[in-house]
This record gives sequence, structure tokens and C-alpha cells, in this order.
Amino acid sequence: MTPQKPQILAIIGQGYVGLPLAMAAVEAGWTVIGIDNFAAKVAQINGGSSPVEDISDTELQVAISNGAYNATTDFSVVSQASVVTICVPTPLDSNREPDLTLLRSAATCIASYVSNETLIVSESTSYPGTLRDVIIPIVNQHKPQSTRILYFACAPERVNPGDANWNQKNTPRLIGAIDAESLTKALAFYESICDTAISVSTPEVAEAAKLLENTFRLVNIALINEFTQICWMSSINIHEVIDAAASKPYGFMPFRPGVGVGGHCIPIDPLYLTWWARQIGGKAEFVELADSINQAMPVYVAERALSLINPSIKNPKVLILGVAYKSGVGDVRETPVSELYDHLIAKGAVVAWHDPLVQSWKNTNSVNLQWECDVAILATNQPGMDLEKILDADVQILDCTNSLRNHPKINPL
Ligand SMILES: NC(=O)c1ccc[n+]([C@@H]2O[C@H](COP(=O)([O-])OP(=O)(O)OC[C@H]3O[C@@H](n4cnc5c(N)ncnc54)[C@H](O)[C@@H]3O)[C@@H](O)[C@H]2O)c1
Repeated sequence: MTPQKPQILAIIGQGYVGLPLAMAAVEAGWTVIGIDNFAAKVAQINGGSSPVEDISDTELQVAISNGAYNATTDFSVVSQASVVTICVPTPLDSNREPDLTLLRSAATCIASYVSNETLIVSESTSYPGTLRDVIIPIVNQHKPQSTRILYFACAPERVNPGDANWNQKNTPRLIGAIDAESLTKALAFYESICDTAISVSTPEVAEAAKLLENTFRLVNIALINEFTQICWMSSINIHEVIDAAASKPYGFMPFRPGVGVGGHCIPIDPLYLTWWARQIGGKAEFVELADSINQAMPVYVAERALSLINPSIKNPKVLILGVAYKSGVGDVRETPVSELYDHLIAKGAVVAWHDPLVQSWKNTNSVNLQWECDVAILATNQPGMDLEKILDADVQILDCTNSLRNHPKINPL
């Protein structure tokens, strides 16, 4: 009988997914090695400074000082691990199509070091078939000759950064494995970390479920963004409408309008779905339409804000409040506020921004709330933003976040 491997977990990618997973695994008794190819981030993490808002410096420092966790750029440590999880970005390329360069590179880098009986799990979001047709062939091609038995599964991450209620432990985890042995190993691993692990029949089901979850959000946000524009034309407050509809106890789920969609999931994952549909001769027209409605929102918001300013002002001063893609994080990836900013500049506005969680963005720095402006746009309601200060100023505010209600200076989206 093969001897049991030690409980060592190697996690490839120490970002919003990889680092919280590392801490959850440490909590569950695993020894974790975090591998990241970005040396400065590895140095920061090993210095006890967390790059992710949901993980405190103290939690990280305790894990490091207990010898339960450390980060490295060295992939050879994979040879010590019984489980390897891949948590690297899966962005879009310049044609807005899946870009698996980082995923392929991660699979190639681990392959030379995987030892017998290792479980390899992909947590990165991708289209169905990625584990079977991309990751497994790469690993099998580059693995050492002595490595004969490997287990493969995919367990798409569902973490919601900045969410105080749902985390790696209490969010049920979907697992699709390549064969029965892999499923047993993957279930045992995730059951050691999460309260609930749910198996599905194939990796493709798990991969497709992840795309469905995020596409569901994209299309519902698009529906509400379109509905908002129609209501505004009739001077109907969209939030009152949503609250009213949400009083129905079944068959309705409230979504709110906003500047658009951002981050590493909602604007991107549905395009993995549209691409995948095209590859297999299908169409995802509904999703493409939703994507285009959301993409048009920043321009709509900019025009609504400019309409609040006296038209005789040639170069109006606009203050944007909150530039991260959502509340509670400093993450500006794919933030729709970028397009809002660009459109305002293109219209001749002088634009400044304030965000307590973002120091520098678009080669500019956050200004303070006293920055004098002709109109303010509350784009993302960040914790620590003193909105009372803005309300004290004699300026109209376009509130895209439904945070401020019933005030004469507040204009809901
Ligand atoms: N951020 C989220 O809210 C979230 C939620 C669920 C799922 N996901 C998915 O999880 C995956 C990871 O996303 P993330 O937000 O954690 O990304 P991230 O950018 O926060 O972190 C990824 C890390 O991987 C590192 N990296 C990139 N390529 C590498 C390689 N080849 N080898 C080693 N390290 C490498 C980067 O330096 C970075 O530190 C993506 O597929 C994403 O769609 C993200």
C-alpha cells in the first residue's frame, strides 16, 4: 500500500482566491505553501503584510510564525505537496476572448514537480473542458516519468471579496472530478476545509455551473440597469420599485442598478460562456445583449451627472466618490468607473476622485472630500467615506449606490 502523503497543500497564485484559501486550509490543520510568480507580492506576504482585504496582517503573521504557511516563487516545492490547487487569473485577451496563458503556464510549472498520488485541483474560473482538455494534457506531457498516478478535479472558487457573511468555510463548494478516485480525494480535501462539499458528475458540470452563477448576475444586473433608464424617463424611483417588487415572497430576487459591472468575475466569466457557445456551434445572444447594456452604463451615468450641472459651465468639475469595482475592496480591475472617468474627461470635464481604499489610479491620486466640484457622483460606497461632508457642500450628487435617500441634493440613478 502507498504510504499516506503529509498534509501539505501547495496553492498556485496568492491573490483574492489563493490567499484566503491558504488561511482557511491553515485553520483546518494543513501546512500550506503559497506559490506566486510575482516576487514583490511573495516578499510582501512573507513580510506579514496581506495584499487582500479579507485577510488581516495578524492572521497572516500568526500562520507564518507557526510555520503553517509561507510564500515562495519556487515551484519545486510542489514535490512536497499532496494537494496542489491552481488559483491564477483567467482574464480576457484583447479580442475579449478567454486568455488561458497564466493557467497554462501554472500547469506547466507544476508539472515537472508533481509526485505520485498528488491531487491537482483547478479553482480558476474557465469554460467547460478546461480541466480535461487543457490542464490534464499539459501536466501529463511535462510530469516526471516516475509520476504515474495523479488525481484531477475542478472546484470553482465562489469567494465574494469583502463579504462579511460568506467565506471559504461556509460557502458550499462544487467539485467535479475526472474519475472516482479523484472525486474521493477531492471531497476529502474540501471536506477538511469547507462545511459543505457537493459533488457533480463531471468537471464540465462544475465549470459550467460557475459560468451560470456569474452569468445569472450579469443578466439580472443588465435587466435592472435597463429598467432604471426606463423608470427615470417617467420620474419613477427605481429603488422604490425594486423594494416594492421584493415584497413578493417568491420568484423575485432584488438586483440594484449601478455604474456597470467590474472585478475579475462578472464582466469576464459570461464572455467565457459566449466564447464557449460559439466554439460548439451555439449562441449566447441574451448574454451578449446583457453585456452590451452593462457596458453602456458608464456613459449613461456620465451624461446623467452632466445634466445636473448648469450648461453654461464650460469645463465642469466632477468629483467621483469610490472608484473600486465594488464596496469594501481596493480592487480596481475592470472597474466600470474607469469608463465613466474617461467619458467625463472626453466631454471636457475636470475630474477628480476620492476612494479611501485606493491610493493611486489612472496615474492620479485620491483627493479629499473638500475638493470643490460642480457635481459629485457616488459610484462605489466605500467604508470610511464620510458622506456627511459631501452633503454639507452645496453640490448635487448622483447616487449610483442607493446609499443616500430623501435628501434634496441627492439624485438617485
Ligand atoms: N477575485 C474574485 O472575487 C474571484 C472569485 C471567484 C473566482 N475567481 C477566479 O479565481 C481565479 C483567480 O482570481 P484572483 O482574483 O485570485 O486573481 P488575483 O489576480 O487576485 O491573484 C492571482 C495571483 O496569481 C499570480 N499568478 C498569475 N499567474 C501565475 C502563474 N503562472 N504562476 C504563479 N502565480 C501566478 C498573480 O501574481 C496573482 O498574485 C480567476 O480564475 C478568477 O476568475 C475570482
